[in-house]
Amino acid sequence: MKNIDSTTHVKGESIYLDDIPLINGTLFGAAFGSPIAHGVIRNLHLDEALQESGVIKILTYKDITGINQIGGIIPDEPLLAEHHVHFCGMPAAFVVAETDDAARAAVKKIKVDIDPLPVITDPREAKEKNELIIPPRTFVLGDVDAAWSGCTHIFEGIAETNGQEHLYIETQGAYAIPQENGAIKIYSSTQSPRATQQASCKVTGLLMHQIEVEVTRLGGAFGGKEDQANAWAAMCALASHLLKRPVKYSLHRMEDMAMTGKRHPYSSDFKIGLDKDLKIVAYEATFYQNAGAAADLSPAVLERTLFHCTNSYFIPNVKAKAYSCRTHLPPNTAFRGFGGPQGMFVIEAAIAKAAEYLGVDASVIQKKNLNQTGDEFPYGQVAVSEAKACWEKAETIYDVNALRKEIKSFNDQSKLYKKGLAFMPVCFGISFTNTMMNQARALVHVYTDGSVSVTTGAIEMGQGVNTKILQVASQVFSISPERIRIQSTSTHKIANTSPSAASATADLNGKATLMACAAIRGRLLAVAAEALNVETSSLELKNEKLCVNGNECDWDWQRLVMAAFLKRVSLSEHAHYATPEIHFDKLKEKGHPFAYHVYGTAIIIVTVDCLRGTYEFDAVKLVHDFGYSMNTAIDRGQIEGGIVQGIGWMTMEEIVYDKEGRLRSNSLSTYKVPDIYSVPRIIDIDPLQTHKDNLAIFRSKAVGEPPLMYGIGAYFALRNAIKAFNPSAQISFSAPMTPEKVLVSLYQKQESSTHEQTIKHMAIPS
Ligand code: MOS
Repeated sequence: MKNIDSTTHVKGESIYLDDIPLINGTLFGAAFGSPIAHGVIRNLHLDEALQESGVIKILTYKDITGINQIGGIIPDEPLLAEHHVHFCGMPAAFVVAETDDAARAAVKKIKVDIDPLPVITDPREAKEKNELIIPPRTFVLGDVDAAWSGCTHIFEGIAETNGQEHLYIETQGAYAIPQENGAIKIYSSTQSPRATQQASCKVTGLLMHQIEVEVTRLGGAFGGKEDQANAWAAMCALASHLLKRPVKYSLHRMEDMAMTGKRHPYSSDFKIGLDKDLKIVAYEATFYQNAGAAADLSPAVLERTLFHCTNSYFIPNVKAKAYSCRTHLPPNTAFRGFGGPQGMFVIEAAIAKAAEYLGVDASVIQKKNLNQTGDEFPYGQVAVSEAKACWEKAETIYDVNALRKEIKSFNDQSKLYKKGLAFMPVCFGISFTNTMMNQARALVHVYTDGSVSVTTGAIEMGQGVNTKILQVASQVFSISPERIRIQSTSTHKIANTSPSAASATADLNGKATLMACAAIRGRLLAVAAEALNVETSSLELKNEKLCVNGNECDWDWQRLVMAAFLKRVSLSEHAHYATPEIHFDKLKEKGHPFAYHVYGTAIIIVTVDCLRGTYEFDAVKLVHDFGYSMNTAIDRGQIEGGIVQGIGWMTMEEIVYDKEGRLRSNSLSTYKVPDIYSVPRIIDIDPLQTHKDNLAIFRSKAVGEPPLMYGIGAYFALRNAIKAFNPSAQISFSAPMTPEKVLVSLYQKQESSTHEQTIKHMAIPS
């Protein structure tokens, strides 16, 4: 089935925040962000800005009618700075004016005197100074300290990944409209209507039943609107609450880039030990997460780094420790993969390090150590593994031996272009790691004309979740999709939602929809059974017809609905779903946190221009564990997009903050994201379709985040291509691998490189 939004998208008729018609009297907001990353506010000069024509009011923390706090996990984030600023761009005032232009002109007239304090941008420095968001977390399996003596080879090193700008096409924004009796309705570009509602309530002092947050769809989010949509909504709500007028704030791209957090940069230490057969015996990793100035979602992101620190591999002895380090950057936040990619990069770096020193291809070590059903993850869950199935299928169907031969002969003949190939296996756990969040609701109404309305907590952000939910309703009722409409997401219709995140939205909301529809179907069939004087169990719905013992009768869907209505039987249902089986004990750091895992193996091939340092990805060929895909078009779309976004993170996307904590890559002229020319020429996606039972909706495994991590292979393919040109290059494990870095590595001389080397190789005699 095609994405139900495809027609309105193509016609430009889809409704985003900026498409909502403005109500007469609407005012416009704009935030003033601190120009200094860390310091004490002496004076905030608003006089000149207040004189700007059209300015109605400038809000500061003093105007807050509730509490000045929007922190989600930890209450450490004021909406508007009071006496301290902790990052460049930290909102300190909110201008409200008659026009958008007037609001922004006034922002430019605001002056602030700040006594600067020392700025930390490096997570290791923050850790040294004990600037931690939460105490460190440690996951342990086996006994790593005892295991080293049994290792034939031990390698240590450092691996680093930079941040990533979400670059959702629709920037952050909100539109708050006063309702009667002091209530407020907010349209927000948020992944989490509940969180946006709650933050707005905290700041205004209103109760949750007084603030409705409604979302039709987002123009992308990627995690950037899981927690960070709240501030703008809270500002608009506060202004609307005080002024009794509608207030809208839709961020400009540069405001958005400067004021919002990004994917967390990580700096990590690794130590890996292998036996003589290249089995990984022990692995130790220490992660330093650059959390930015406030907690935001960092503790949860940190946790997922630990969950995925061994990627697809079984390692019997593991110790992984993670620090969430407070720096003076905008609070970093959720980003597709949620800390998982950062953890996986480090184990892949450790394996690549070992492979390079031992003179084998990394894939030899990767393949030998893939997990199998029954293996234990460091957090205690036992794998139900498709790792080998995906890997072996990829090797076979893509004829890896032939690919390698082609690459070798190309590299032998070509002097200035070199190709590199890397394997990237992925294993990603599905569920919010915070067990409590794995719940969802659906509200289904069947109308007397036979049409159906479905409302859930799911946010459509381009990923196609509404299409999947519609498929669920269509299948349970066995009616045409045209009869069904997925309504906008609203906190008045569906309460207490979890964010649309963790790849789990279709599973959670789809299952709730399934339950609601099944309950209504049950009542409809009971009505028919009574009328026809047959057992309910003999009835089923098939293509809008009622069947008795498999034979169509003269009752169609509409007659069935009307019969139930005339009998005063409810045609509506509100259902609640909570993922079964999952649990996690944070004290022991053990449990069964995931409903299931998604597996896959990608083969990535790159060609490097060794004169220029530029590169092109020839192909990404992969086998992906779909479970049993309920919508292959949507799932393939997610995989293609995820791969390109992952490659972008690993290659060209380079976030630069200077020592003062100012974002230098603050626009699309200084921050390069993949365009159509950087998409791999071939993306082959082969499904591993299984009929095994799992907890996914219709056994169709979650697909939002896992494919991003195939992109990690891009970094290692590049490394291999560089080595084909300059075998002695010592390339640091530091992503992104920009063309500039590639060029330096291509012409790096051996002497200087060994000098800079930070990685030790210790061969322990056995
Ligand atoms: Mo997503 S990174 O779980 O919002």
